[in-house]
This record gives sequence, structure tokens and C-alpha cells, in this order.
Amino acid sequence: MNAALPMEVLKQHLIDPEICIRCNTCEETCPIDAITHDSNNYVVDPDICNGCMACVPPCPTGSIDNWRLVVRSDAYSVQDQLSWDELPREQPLPAAAAIVDEAANAVVEPVSSAGVAAMPSATPGASVPPWSAAHPYVNLYTHKTPVTATVVGNYRVTGADTDSDIHHIVLDFGELPFPVLEGQSIGILPPGTDAQGRPHHARQYSLASPRDGERAGYNNLSLTVKRVTEDHQGQSVNGVCSNYLCDLAKNDTVQVIGPFGHTFLMPNHPRANLIMICTGTGSAPMRAMTERYRRRIETGENGRLMLFFGARTERELPYFGPLMKLPRDFIDINLALSREAGQPKRYVQDLIRERAAAVRELLADRNTCIYVCGLKGMEVGVLDALREVTVQAGQDWTILHDVLRREGRLHFETY
Ligand code: A2P
Repeated sequence: MNAALPMEVLKQHLIDPEICIRCNTCEETCPIDAITHDSNNYVVDPDICNGCMACVPPCPTGSIDNWRLVVRSDAYSVQDQLSWDELPREQPLPAAAAIVDEAANAVVEPVSSAGVAAMPSATPGASVPPWSAAHPYVNLYTHKTPVTATVVGNYRVTGADTDSDIHHIVLDFGELPFPVLEGQSIGILPPGTDAQGRPHHARQYSLASPRDGERAGYNNLSLTVKRVTEDHQGQSVNGVCSNYLCDLAKNDTVQVIGPFGHTFLMPNHPRANLIMICTGTGSAPMRAMTERYRRRIETGENGRLMLFFGARTERELPYFGPLMKLPRDFIDINLALSREAGQPKRYVQDLIRERAAAVRELLADRNTCIYVCGLKGMEVGVLDALREVTVQAGQDWTILHDVLRREGRLHFETY
């Protein structure tokens, strides 16, 4: 007599429609086009998704990280998911079900519906905050319940004669609560619809101001926004949200959602050191953290600050003037300029190598956290440079990298 075949169980990847901000990050990230959307929801096609996890770390809200064990033949279809207002509850599985490892496409273990195994991480950075980070509030305002903020400032922070049109934009929330921490981001809902008539999806921006406001004690925050006029391939495009934001006038109002982010947060204990590595508008969280330290400079609580900042030229480096006015014994500034006339091309990773001894000294201190924000392309370069400075000293980078990730001391936010 033939034994009954076990029912094939799928660890189905789902997106929580109540939390998702429709920012399109997951759809852009998915290497195999398993994610799609309509004007209602972003959804994962169970026939395409292979559980590679590439979309999970970049999701600003965590709404992407939802999984249900289902019998494969009963998987929720794309059409089902597009109609949802909330995720379905976990259903008990039939007794004879067996789980399928999607990557290997093989039955690996019999399961109960008690839970889903931990998924592997696809990020070179930590998925936990530093141990002493303050508690972040997230998802207080969603695309269904956005908050209205008023523009109280909008000015250019790069040289007027350059192609890099980067703005510092200050938003005020009036009486409405909008608690934030350095390293968090918000979503902006640009008005209007896309070519298919769907409302524009939200765009995410990191805060450039510290937790107590752009102006200390005020219920406001700031963003660093680059006017997008070309894509990564140099083709001419008009960024929907960046142009909208850069053109805002004082007293205009903006629809905001968030805040987002619970890992790219600064340590909150005395004498914590920060190594900050950024390019262009990736300087926003570094400005927020630096300003947090600057405001308590007299208290004696601060550890050391070391900044590696990449830009084409000094005039295209946002906040160049205010940055250079900071005291040298407060922050160790290293500018990597790639297109400054008469100077060799430099990237942040070149300067990390040049400052190997100082970087190593900070890396050896368990009170040091590292933050990397800016162009996706620098991730590999920065990791290679950190590996090199570690190995030069006869240390094992694999072990140190693992410790930094486990202890929430190495964070990436790249785009
Ligand atoms: P480049 O002159 O080669 O474009 P942007 O102005 O486009 O936002 O870029 C900010 C800075 O980051 C520029 O100096 C740019 O140099 C530099 N950059 C570009 N690619 C990388 C990379 N892979 N690693 C580090 N820096 C990079």
C-alpha cells in the first residue's frame, strides 16, 4: 500500500496592509519581480517569491516581514491580497503537513502551525539597535491617517552654481504629537497621481534634526532633500516628490506619515563614540546625531565623533559652512571630494584607509557604533575598507563584523 504523500506547506510571504506605507521600496528591491501593487495594496506573488529576503531589510516599516504557514495549494493569491484591509489570522494546518524550504524547494521538516523559523538576514548591517538606544515610536501616522505639517523653512544648502540642488526643509507639526529619534525617517505623500491614475506612493526621508526639534524645544523637524533630475543611469527624469518638496514655500502644508525605523538609532549611554560615513543627502542622519551631541557639549557625556563625508566638491557638500565651523576637538571631519578641480578623486573608503589607526582605535572600543548612509555603491567599498584596517592589525574581520552586527553597532541605510 502506498503511504499518503505529506501535504506541501508553504511559508507564505505577506505584506501587512495596515502598516505598509506603499513606498515601493520592496517592489524596486525584489530581484525576481515577485512583488506587485495596485492602488490598494502591495502584495507578494506566492508563485514567484523564493524567500530570498532581499526586500526585508530595506522596508522602512517592517510591514514586509510577515509570514503564514499555508498548504501550498491554498496559498493566498495575488487577487486575494490586493483586496485585503488587514492580514488574515494564522490558520491551523492539517496534521500531515510538511514545510518546504523555498530556496531549496525541498521538504525539510514536518511542522505545526506554531511558528515560522527565523529567516536568514540579507543585510551587512545589524538588525537590532544599539543596546542603549532610546525607545522609538513607529507608524503613528499611516497612509490612511496622515498628519498635516506646515513648511516653516526651505533653503538650499549647496552652492547655487552647482548641479547638486539640495534643500534643507523644516516641517512644523503644531499641536500634534510627532516623537522622533535621530536616524529615523518619515514618509511624504506627494499630491496627485501617477501615469496609471494611482495616488503617488510615499517617499521616505531621513531626519536631519535631533529628537528635540530642528529648533530645540519646538515641535518641528528637518529633512535634507536632493532635487532629482536624473536617474542612476544619468537619464533625465523629474523626481516626483523631491521636486515637490524643493519647490515648497513657507506656510505650504505637507501630508506626512511615520515615523519609521527602529534599528538605525544612536546609542543613548554616556561616552558612546560614533563613526559616521555618508555621501550627499546621506548626511541627514549624521547631522541629526552630530547636533544631538553638539547640544550637550557642555555636559561632558559625549564620546568621540568621527565623520567621513563624500561629495563631488566642497560646494556640492550639503551643510559645508556650518560643518566646518564645528570645533575640531568636538568632531573629527574627513571630507572625500571626488571631482574637486586639481585634486585626486577621493571616496569615503579611501579616507577610512588613510585614517586606519584612528578607525581601529574606535573599533576596539565597545562604546563605538558605526553608521553608513548614502549611495548603495559605497556599501561594498566601506565594508572592504573596514575589513582592511582590521586585518592590517592582525585581527579577524569576520569575527568583528559579526560582533558589530550582533551588538547593533554597525548600521547601513543606502539607496
Ligand atoms: P562620483 O564623483 O564618482 O560620482 P552624488 O553627488 O552623486 O550624490 O555622490 C556623492 C559622492 O559619492 C560623490 O563624490 C560620488 O563620486 C561618490 N560616490 C559615487 N559612487 C561611490 C561609491 N561606490 N563609493 C563611495 N562613494 C561614491
